[in-house]
Amino acid sequence: MFPCALNGAARSWMKYCTPRRAFSAVRPRLVLGIETSCDETGAAVIDETGVILGESLHSQKQTHLDAGGIIPTVAQRLHRENISRVVQEALDRSGIEPGELTAVATTVKPGLALSLGIGLHFSLQFVRLHEKPFIPIHHMEAHALTVRMLHPVDFPFLVLLVSGGHSLLALAKGIDDFLLLGQTLDEAAGDTLDKIARRLSLRNHPECSTLSGGQAIELLAKEGDRLAFHFKSPMWQLYDCNFSFAGLRNQVTLAIGKKEREEGVEKGQLLSCVKDIAAASQHTLVSHIAKRTHRAILFCKSKGLLPQHNPTLVVSGGVASNEYIRRTLKIVTDATGLHLLCPPSKFCTDNGVMIAWNGIERLKQGKGIMSHTEEVIYEPKAPLGLDITSEVKDAAIKVPPLRLRINS
Ligand code: KG4
Ligand code: ZN
Repeated sequence: MFPCALNGAARSWMKYCTPRRAFSAVRPRLVLGIETSCDETGAAVIDETGVILGESLHSQKQTHLDAGGIIPTVAQRLHRENISRVVQEALDRSGIEPGELTAVATTVKPGLALSLGIGLHFSLQFVRLHEKPFIPIHHMEAHALTVRMLHPVDFPFLVLLVSGGHSLLALAKGIDDFLLLGQTLDEAAGDTLDKIARRLSLRNHPECSTLSGGQAIELLAKEGDRLAFHFKSPMWQLYDCNFSFAGLRNQVTLAIGKKEREEGVEKGQLLSCVKDIAAASQHTLVSHIAKRTHRAILFCKSKGLLPQHNPTLVVSGGVASNEYIRRTLKIVTDATGLHLLCPPSKFCTDNGVMIAWNGIERLKQGKGIMSHTEEVIYEPKAPLGLDITSEVKDAAIKVPPLRLRINS
């Protein structure tokens, strides 16, 4: 077959392929991925080799920043208003017709109920109309496996997921086989950063008005003195891999209140020491995450859970975009002989590509592919894998001190 004989979709597909793949007789399987679990409406079409044929993303970030937090009904309305366009854009950019898709994969858990509902409702209508199989996706599994689209990472590997809704450490043993080593006992790391940023009124800072809380804190921390404030490390006396961030937020809130009184600053105005507070908060939060990750590595090693050859730590979720956390975790992985992999920022935050890739992984293994969708439901709460956090706690592994000395 010659290129001139190909239809538009195939030509568009060829643009992204090596000639060998383009001319092979069997066309790769194609999955449309749809993400609406929180505040991003995302869609992407990818092939089984991980080539992204087309994608589209509508972020609700600015609306939620302006409102001072995510209001579920607003998130739902924005998903409803945008999902059809976002999916059509991803399809148009890929040059793929719905009939050419092998399956549709959509996030059904965990997430905001009202947001998940929009993605699921749209997807079920779509698969029924085009008579396609449906693949329900676990959002956290998708975050954990995105890296395999970009690098050849074999199971098992350790994964740290830190986002606005979750903070967890798990051992990935297979595409749907995880051991949960630790998770947050209160709020997620990204949520804490967002709340601290709000309390500091960073939206009113000229360089931060369009940034998420975590991004704003990272930016300001670069010029701050982290030693100007001392915040106690959470749960330093507990030898497990769980996280807690609410206590840190409380300490930071008290320090901000004290400074506001000293400086006579009104709510909404910026303190003179915002950069120092950002640097100290970021350092304490990152050190806590690094320590728990270090313990998880030592636990896995002590139980022989990681391979001898090229043991790997994967870090993903929105907070994993943070350079300070990446450099700190590199100190931990260098000290323990692990290989550190963080997907590029655009794949750490929520997107349709990661959902489509999880669909490809499932398709390849023939797992969770549904041709009848009557019983599919969304689940706002969904644990990741088998919970062995108490076994980790019982092991009570002491982590040797590491100098986490990072220049912002
Ligand atoms: O994974 P994600 O896009 O959505 C959830 O599933 O939650 O993560 C969003 C979170 C927000 O809390 C945001 O403040 C945080 O990730 N975040 C960051 C950075 N970029 C985004 N936190 C720290 N540093 C960053 N550069
Ligand atoms: Zn996420």
